[in-house]
Amino acid sequence: MDRASFLSDDCPPMGIYETLYAFRDSFGQFMGAPGTHPWSQGFPLTTQLAGGPELPGSVEVTWEDRFYPKAWGHPLLREAIVAHYNGFYGSRITPDNVMVFAGGRPGIYAVLAFLKRHVEVRIGNVEWPAYLDILTQTKTSWKVVPFTKANGFHPPNAAYFDRAGLNAKTHLMPVISNPGNPTGHTRAGAELEELIAMAEQPKNGILLDEAYEMFHASKGVSGIRYVKDLDNSNVFLAGACTKGLQCPGIRIGWIIASKQNVETLANYSSFGMGGVSHPSQLYAAKLLEPQRVARARDAVDRHYGMQRARYGRAFAELGLTVHTGDGGFYHWLELPEGLDADELNRRLFRHGAAILKGFDCDMARPHDKDPEYRSPYGSFFRFSFGPLLPETFESDIAILRRVLDEYRADVAR
Ligand SMILES: Cc1ncc(COP(=O)(O)O)c(C=O)c1O
Repeated sequence: MDRASFLSDDCPPMGIYETLYAFRDSFGQFMGAPGTHPWSQGFPLTTQLAGGPELPGSVEVTWEDRFYPKAWGHPLLREAIVAHYNGFYGSRITPDNVMVFAGGRPGIYAVLAFLKRHVEVRIGNVEWPAYLDILTQTKTSWKVVPFTKANGFHPPNAAYFDRAGLNAKTHLMPVISNPGNPTGHTRAGAELEELIAMAEQPKNGILLDEAYEMFHASKGVSGIRYVKDLDNSNVFLAGACTKGLQCPGIRIGWIIASKQNVETLANYSSFGMGGVSHPSQLYAAKLLEPQRVARARDAVDRHYGMQRARYGRAFAELGLTVHTGDGGFYHWLELPEGLDADELNRRLFRHGAAILKGFDCDMARPHDKDPEYRSPYGSFFRFSFGPLLPETFESDIAILRRVLDEYRADVAR
């Protein structure tokens, strides 16, 4: 181009893409093509799970569905989402507490884009890579909460609301994925109750990202169970059809919040989004049919609970340190002394496999490239068993064993 671009020079794709391009250059195929091992990828199986419900094959589209959608979401879908929460968690939300988006990310992005300037985000040092891009692009101020081996990658709730050094006008908004991506650590029961109680205190709020709500032995963790007065709060819960309902491709997500906050988000939709595809919303309403979801909750817990346990055991036997919590579909792993995740990836690429580097999940790293920066998570990585079929377990472990053995042999040489 002979002129400087009018668009931002600081808008790279999410960190993992660099790994995916390096993988393609090394292996000659895109990650996800037949013969590759998508351990780096954050999507679930999109086929029926053993004992799980069928996934709808079609949705009827009538002349009414060709109208513009309502800014806040299709009434049928909003009702279905309300029933989903009130039925399982005993909450009393209404459709006015639900704002529908085209997936989880646009909802999270919109909430952060419209934060007032005196609201500061607190985010774990190890979180989902997209948050770093979203916080940067929305010009949100944030501080990281330490995630260390000493605190087990699971700091106490109070660490997110620490006001040391703040002046009175600053309000706090933790952003937490729960169950966590990439760590799998989950706040449930009394701990989640305490988190929500703190978030409902004056000057506090929370954006609790519950994309992995169903990936836990309780078959469902949501802060909504403990919210006392949603309409007088700045509690935002993010949900989606992306993971437990197994449909990343239909692009449906939502934010549960106070009526006033939903109205602001709907106003944004009216000028910035134009609502969300009716066919997708109708499909989502089918996915949320209560008996279907009940079967999905059982099947997700059975399949992913089994995978979490057996991959965890196998990784420990291979000499990796397993720091994973009890939810989600990722393992958070530490490599043996001397090996870093970059080197591991270079070696995995030769076998058609890749992982997500701990570096990419480091919320304190500079958004633009800085060769001087040393992440404390250089020897950590995320292994995703989200898209893996039960049949690939043995070969997955065999590849990792071989790569670690090759590395040890090279070092010994
Ligand atoms: C922590 C977290 N939140 C939300 C999402 C939802 O993403 P999507 O925009 O694909 O619905 C994801 C998906 O990777 C995620 O890992």
